[in-house]
Amino acid sequence: VPGTLANSGWQTVAWQGTNLTDFAKQYGTPVPSRAGSPLVDVLIPMDPEAAPKQSLSAEAGFSAFPWHTDGAHWRIPPRFIVMRLAPGAATLTPTRLLTIDRLGLGEDLTVELRRTILIVSSGRGAFLAPLLQRRPSLGLDTIRFDRRVMRPRLKKSVGALDALEESLSRSDPEAVYWDPGSVLVLDNWRAVHMRDAVPDEERSTRKLERVLVMADAA
Ligand SMILES: [Fe+2]
Repeated sequence: VPGTLANSGWQTVAWQGTNLTDFAKQYGTPVPSRAGSPLVDVLIPMDPEAAPKQSLSAEAGFSAFPWHTDGAHWRIPPRFIVMRLAPGAATLTPTRLLTIDRLGLGEDLTVELRRTILIVSSGRGAFLAPLLQRRPSLGLDTIRFDRRVMRPRLKKSVGALDALEESLSRSDPEAVYWDPGSVLVLDNWRAVHMRDAVPDEERSTRKLERVLVMADAA
């Protein structure tokens, strides 16, 4: 994992190739976001009725997306998200991101969130997973977060989730603006992200490409 990605959990890299999968491969193994989908997802703002079921667009449409990690319903979520403005597209709407180590959650809440066990609905049954997970090999906590696919196993954990939400809403996230010729690489284990509301005039011009990447075993 090169330079700033390891330090800050995300980076932008100048790159203008044809197939985003070729770029993504240097970070691990590209995987489709859904069974049978192509490796490069094309993300366009969508009316809730037109959007695929379970997608964020189906829930939020053109409104701001909620904070989330991608593939939160996978047993092992993708490690990296590689995204760029699609060729010929244009958007002034930023994507925002926040690494959990920058959230300043404090020791007590961090410990509580590590103990917060989630029931995650995967579509093929449910499984249990912690919200925060201490990763000694990485020297940090990783996060799994998407309120649409998870609920706390115990009622008493709702308070910790609410405290996390509040911390997210008070936070000062990084804004990524989409320029041609650069690619965003985001550590999906360390950061949550969201998109602002898309104004009417961008509904037909905003188009992003995305590749999800599984980390190769060290
Ligand atoms: Fe996402």
